[in-house]
Amino acid sequence: MSLTLCNVHFSDKKDRVVYVSGPLYRSLKLSDKKKLQIKLGRETVTASVKAVKREGNHVFLSSALRQQIRVPKSGNVFMLHASENEVQLGPLVGILSDGYVSSSLPFGSRTGFIKDLIRIGEKKAYFFGFTPKDINWSQETVNGYFLNADGSWYRKTVPLPDVVYNRLPSRKAETGSYISSLRERFVRKGIPFFNWSYFNKSDVYKLLDKDVEALRHLPESVSGPSDAKIKELLEKHHFVYFKPSGGSLGAGIYRLTYQPKQGYFARYRSGGKNVLLRFGTFQALMRTMHARHGSSFGGYVVQQGIRLVEIEGCPLDFRFHMHKNGRNEWVTAGIGAKKAGKGSVTTHIKNGGVLMTPGNALSRTFGSQAGEVLEKAKRVAVKMSEAIERNYPHRLGELGLDLGIDKDGEVWMFEANAKPGRSIFKHPALKPEGRASLEYILEHCLYLSRFRGRDS
Ligand SMILES: Nc1ncnc2c1ncn2[C@@H]1O[C@H](COP(=O)(O)OP(=O)(O)O)[C@@H](O)[C@H]1O
Ligand SMILES: [Mg+2]
Repeated sequence: MSLTLCNVHFSDKKDRVVYVSGPLYRSLKLSDKKKLQIKLGRETVTASVKAVKREGNHVFLSSALRQQIRVPKSGNVFMLHASENEVQLGPLVGILSDGYVSSSLPFGSRTGFIKDLIRIGEKKAYFFGFTPKDINWSQETVNGYFLNADGSWYRKTVPLPDVVYNRLPSRKAETGSYISSLRERFVRKGIPFFNWSYFNKSDVYKLLDKDVEALRHLPESVSGPSDAKIKELLEKHHFVYFKPSGGSLGAGIYRLTYQPKQGYFARYRSGGKNVLLRFGTFQALMRTMHARHGSSFGGYVVQQGIRLVEIEGCPLDFRFHMHKNGRNEWVTAGIGAKKAGKGSVTTHIKNGGVLMTPGNALSRTFGSQAGEVLEKAKRVAVKMSEAIERNYPHRLGELGLDLGIDKDGEVWMFEANAKPGRSIFKHPALKPEGRASLEYILEHCLYLSRFRGRDS
């Protein structure tokens, strides 16, 4: 097994001969008598081999050969010498998304990210975007979106990919039976598919509720709580978060506080403003909550409130953008620190939060201990990612963890996102991390598609 970068050329010849440059011909130990199987995705074509005088690693494919296995374009790509008479071009990596706005924005607001990722894969792999309706299951092909050098799109039909990176844009779309069976079909065909779907908060807490390692970093959480349970947690911790299990961006989140002499407080965001209500009794608080959210809190989670470190009286928390690398290990690709807006329950930018580098934020809260605290948080982030993966039945390759650090320097996880946004990478100082994040996706796709050399 060996891995080489090679330059694929398209020739006008009609024959079924693959012409291979001298150095590549020798390193693949080819001979004129041999037939060579050339693979792309799950398509294979058999060709005769001839050497041509040329330096470097070059392959010349006739139109007959390239059409049969649907090679999307010429240029550099990896060649995996899988067995004596077989080489595979690729990997062929499909990015699954949706959200058509126009032909220049086939993936809606995700189009820019998908372009960036395709560009990272340029000259190494065949990256393309596709939507569920672009798959032809009976022919086992995908009508993919490929990127021109000028940033415009062109369509090419290619074999089913070697690996699928799932960035389907909505929870709703994902719960349908069509998408469920689509995922199952990829897996049944042995095509690695990551990540499986959006997470629900209560699913993640449940996943970890027997994992001793992880539980230490998870605030006490109860899904679908009764009024009595909320009261119990409030009395125990003095404040709790009340969050919709399938929510995001801080929507529908309450911070409930109990102050023995003053009563009960509910803080939340409504109509672009921060609201603070006071209640004399617990029953009065619950009457209001039920009026807003119905008789049962089935879709909600109540969670122990954590006293986060603060800057200028505003709580601070962190987004850890985690990836699996080319050796299948979890790594932290980038960290954004977020300071909550004044009076806001969450740190989201759209609720007045401010994005900072972790170094800046932590030096203002932990001074000379900042480096140590950050290293500890990174270890926890890796540990939590491993714990989620170990307890989750599907394949994971990327996670966005919302972590908090309390005044004692303890690290807590509030939420794990399986389709993390990339807004932290907009910070000018976090651009290199944004690029590293894309590189990890590429590396991990190489790993999953088994495009690896003898030594890697
Ligand atoms: N248990 C908690 N204690 C303290 N702060 C919390 C707690 N839960 C959430 N938060 C704050 O609210 C923010 C949003 O909560 P999160 O669980 O990430 O929900 P969302 O899906 O809306 O992002 C967190 O980033 C954190 O700042
Ligand atoms: Mg969050």
